[in-house]
Formats: sequence, C-alpha cells, structure tokens
Amino acid sequence: MKRIAVIFWGMIAALIFFSVMKDETPFYVPAKWPKPYYDFSQNPLSKEKFELGRTLFYDPDLSRDSTISCANCHLQYSGFTHIDHSLSHGIDGKIGTRNTPVLINMAWQQFFHWDGGVSSLNKQAINPLTHAKEMDNRLDEVLRRLNQSSFYRSRFYRAFGDSVIETASLLKALASFTVSLVSANSKYDLVKRGESSFTNQEKSGYQLFKKYCASCHQEPLFMKNDFKSNGIALDPTLHDLGRMGITNRKEDSLLFKIPTLRNVEFSFPYMHDGRYKNLKEVLNHYAEMHEHQPYFSKELKKLNRPLSSNEQKDLIAFLKTLSDPEFLFNPSFKYPKNERNASFQKN
Ligand code: HEC
Ligand code: HEC
Repeated sequence: MKRIAVIFWGMIAALIFFSVMKDETPFYVPAKWPKPYYDFSQNPLSKEKFELGRTLFYDPDLSRDSTISCANCHLQYSGFTHIDHSLSHGIDGKIGTRNTPVLINMAWQQFFHWDGGVSSLNKQAINPLTHAKEMDNRLDEVLRRLNQSSFYRSRFYRAFGDSVIETASLLKALASFTVSLVSANSKYDLVKRGESSFTNQEKSGYQLFKKYCASCHQEPLFMKNDFKSNGIALDPTLHDLGRMGITNRKEDSLLFKIPTLRNVEFSFPYMHDGRYKNLKEVLNHYAEMHEHQPYFSKELKKLNRPLSSNEQKDLIAFLKTLSDPEFLFNPSFKYPKNERNASFQKN
C-alpha cells in the first residue's frame, strides 16, 4: 500500500513539475490588472513557442534581402520601438509613413497599428513581413526559407507538433513572443505595491496626471483600447487621417490609438509620426490646448487652462516613474544565442 502511495504521489509531483516547466514563459498577469484581451485558447503559450518566436523576431533572413529583422525597428532597450527615428526605417533604407510603436503589454491591446487597422496579434506580422518599406518579402518565400532549415523544422515540430511550417504557425510563433512582453515593474508599480514612495514632485505630477491625462491613458496600463484626437494638427505632407482610413467615417478623422505611456522616457520620438523629439515638446503641446481646435476630444476639455512650466516638469517627473529597467533589460527578451544565430554569424 505504502509503495503504491509513493508511486502515486511521485507521479502527481512529476506531472506538476512538467506542467510548470512547460508554462515557463515570461508572460504573467500582474496582480489587480484587468483580464488580457488576447485569446490564449487560440494560441496556448509554451516555452517552445516563445523561444521560437524570439528567434524569428531577431532573424533578418525573414526579409527579402536578409538584412532586416523585426528587432531592427523594435529595439528592446527603448520599449521595442525605433529610438531616434520619427518614421519607420526599413529595407534598402526606405522610410515609412509612421513612427514605430512600442511593443509593451500587447496582451491587453485590442487593436493594433496607430489606426487599429489590425485586430488580431496572431495575424499582425503579415504586414511587416510583406510591406514594401519594411521587410518586403513574400509569404511563400519566407515559408520556403524556413522549411529549408533543419533548425526551424525541428523547432516548429517541438512548438506545434508539425515540422511543416505554415503561415498560421509562423504568425502564432511570432505572436507568442510579442504577447509575452509584459512591463509591470516600474517605480509606479512599486509605489502601488507599497514597496517604494514618490518624491514630492512625482506626487504632484501624479495628481495632475489623474486629473488631465488618465481618462485616456488609463491606469494601470496607461493606454485605452480606443481612438482619440489629442489635439495635434494634421501633417500636410503625410496627410495621415488615422482611424478614418480604416472606417471611412468622417467622425473618425484624425483619431489615433491611445498609446501606452509605460517606458515613455525611452521611446522617443513621440506620436504616430514622431513629430515631438522629447517629453518637453509633448508637454508643451498639452499645455496649450484650445477648445476651438479641430477634433477636440471631450477628455481634453478639462485642460481648459495652460499648464505652468512647473506643472509640466512635475508631469514629466511622474512619467519617468513608468520606466521599467527590468523589462528594458530582461535577458529573456534579448537577441537569443542559439545555433540558428550562431550559423548567421558564420555566413
Ligand atoms: C521597418 C520597421 C519595422 C519592422 C521591420 C517591423 N515593424 Fe512592427 N511596426 C512598425 C510600424 C511603423 C508599426 C505601426 C504601423 C502602423 O501604425 O501603420 C508597427 C507595428 C507593429 C505592431 C503593433 C503594435 C501596436 O501597438 O499597434 C506589432 C505587434 C509589430 N509591429 C510587430 C512586428 C513584428 C513581429 C515584426 C517582424 C515580423 C515587425 N513588427 C517588423 C515598424 C516595423
Ligand atoms: C483625449 C485623450 C487623451 C488625453 C486626455 C491625453 N492623451 Fe496623450 N495621447 C493620446 C493619443 C490619442 C495619443 C497618440 C496621438 C497620435 O499619435 O496622433 C497620445 C500620445 C501621447 C504621448 C506620446 C506617446 C508615444 O508613444 O508616442 C504622450 C507622452 C502623452 N500622450 C502624454 C499625455 C499626457 C502627459 C497627458 C495629460 C496632460 C495626455 N497625454 C492626455 C490621447 C490623450
């Protein structure tokens, strides 16, 4: 009897051990956060998929001329955006029409791209792979290259149970990486957990933020799954009408996705077209709101007086508490050192 019990509990322990090992990806839902939008039942997370997605994310061979990987535009230390580039910079040095957004807490995001033109993270990667100014490849060519590689065939087999690589598994592998990029360990989070405290300046910035900014940049994600105008004027050269380009509705003209402000200290330049070089310029914009501006969102009406330069400084001090070095330097998100990348370096 005793032996049977030992074997029984041994098996249970082994099952628990293996299920924990299998789920060991960096994704987690921080305490008190809302439920993610991402439907994990369509693409259950696993360590194998995450690692495969990470290798693909850093692999320039997915682009037409094998020079541009996802990480060329989405760099980890800037919150996965292209620091210092106002408009995206892709293959053959081609310049796109929008600023590369950060990839932070994607699991809570309902719409993708500045105009929300993409509604599923599991399909998003088709766009950069085939975009003429980004990676400019054809899907059949990407799949041909991957299916020729024994490295990838064995990794796809481990991740999806099939060594034949198809569009769906390629896109799901990439999504397994991007959905796992959780940032929730900034000073702001420590303060909320009672593990740190704000300086007086940060405290005053937080009060102003809650009054004037948080209706759109909602805590704790500092974004909202909605499209608004924050009052910036149309750029006459780019002529980007935002959400209206997708819906064709006049009332959606100049509305853009409300971006997260987590790690905003490092994700400059700002806005869908990168028009502001630093946070000072952003705050200068919000400091001078006028109700008679076109497309003036009702949330901005509370800003019915100019913000003083001290108030702007306090707000910037608060925004900097959203920086999360653990996320920006997390070794699990870095360029992976594996056989695949080793073989690149030899070529
Ligand atoms: C040439 C630069 C460039 C490359 C390369 C690139 N991206 Fe992007 N990425 C962008 C830009 C620009 C946008 C915003 C597009 C828009 O709003 O129309 C974007 C948007 C995204 C988004 C949506 C983010 C959001 O908040 O809406 C995801 C996810 C993403 N890219 C993942 C990837 C993946 C995965 C790859 C590689 C397969 C990749 N990107 C390659 C520039 C790039
Ligand atoms: C009406 C909703 C709304 C309010 C209120 C609002 N914002 Fe925004 N914010 C947006 C939208 C939408 C964007 C993106 C606009 C674009 O790119 O065209 C944005 C962009 C930003 C960006 C740039 C982020 C990036 O990654 O490029 C910063 C920084 C920012 N807001 C800070 C603030 C601060 C500080 C306040 C309060 C003073 C504030 N916002 C109030 C909607 C709002």
